[in-house]
Amino acid sequence: MKTEIITVNPDNINPVYIKTAAEKIKDGGLVAFPTETVYGLGADAFNPKAVAKIFEAKKRPFEDPLIVHIAQKEDLYKLTEDISDSALKLADEFWPGPLTLVLKKSKNIPDIITAGLDTVAIRVPADKVALAFIKFSETPIAAPSANLFGRPSPTTAQHVLDDLNEKIDIVIDGGRALIGVESTILDLTQNPPVVLRPGGVSIEKLKKVVKGVEIYKQDKILSPGMYPRHYSPKAKVMLVEGNGNVQVKKIKNLACRFNLQELSVGILAKEENIDKYNGFKVKSIGQGNDLAVCASNLFSVLREFDKEGVDTIIAEGVKEEELGLAIMNRLRKAAGE
Ligand code: TXA
Ligand code: MG
Repeated sequence: MKTEIITVNPDNINPVYIKTAAEKIKDGGLVAFPTETVYGLGADAFNPKAVAKIFEAKKRPFEDPLIVHIAQKEDLYKLTEDISDSALKLADEFWPGPLTLVLKKSKNIPDIITAGLDTVAIRVPADKVALAFIKFSETPIAAPSANLFGRPSPTTAQHVLDDLNEKIDIVIDGGRALIGVESTILDLTQNPPVVLRPGGVSIEKLKKVVKGVEIYKQDKILSPGMYPRHYSPKAKVMLVEGNGNVQVKKIKNLACRFNLQELSVGILAKEENIDKYNGFKVKSIGQGNDLAVCASNLFSVLREFDKEGVDTIIAEGVKEEELGLAIMNRLRKAAGE
């Protein structure tokens, strides 16, 4: 199958182009589209045959459930039966935006979306192109990230094509994803609510709206789709935590050791430390204090190292607050914990 690329200017959306993509959804096709977090691979959520194609294209295991994307809060009522006050409060506060809510599902949702669970994950994305695309499709859109299963999520249309060219019908190119890490997933069917995946909305912000939010711990509950190794480039990833010169020294020692074994090494460093790695192949993730920039660079830099054929990526950690929690979560998973 040939993958059609439809380029859309987010500041001046041409409805004709979006309608072409929406028609493909109505026909049971697969369309990759930009969101503010990462690119998604969409299909009509009420068409189980179309949704099955997502799993096939991504090589994703069927036990990993999908997020359903809607264009407005009111569409929640098509997907879930009991909507609590805190769900509505969170939706008012954070939608459209990078927050996914896990709620009790209504019976009409196909099992293939929820991996047979009695809950469903839902979000309203903030990206204007995504919203127009969902509206014109006139159906909720089931969409995981538009990468091959286990690979770093795509933040550009080119990343989508690198993984899925000729496996999907259309990719809508709406430019670079602003945030660069996936949505925060909050399970509201647990009491207290549990963050299953840190992401674009920080836990600090969630706690201001809903009391007692807890962070998912590996040993406590197991959510489907929470694989220890994920978001991985082809290169092996090592994460070196800590700070300042101790961290730099440790990384240089490791890099030298790998170089002696004739392995090529890429160092992913904070902007302020770049100069300390003279003579090594090094890329910047952004200033350590600017976590938004670090998040938006993370996946694309991992993919760049892959394109350059690096064997091992040694990454500096960032501080674990706000968006830094999501960044460190992705880095740990890329490293296989
Ligand atoms: O930002 C995002 O969330 C992006 C964009 C495209 O919206 N999507 C995304 O989807 O990251 P995906 O498929 O890569 O991750 C979805 C994860 C699943 O792996 C699973 O862990 C969780 O959402 N999930 C989905 N449904 C769930 C459910 N009913 N209960 C618990 N976890 C669920
Ligand atoms: Mg994913």
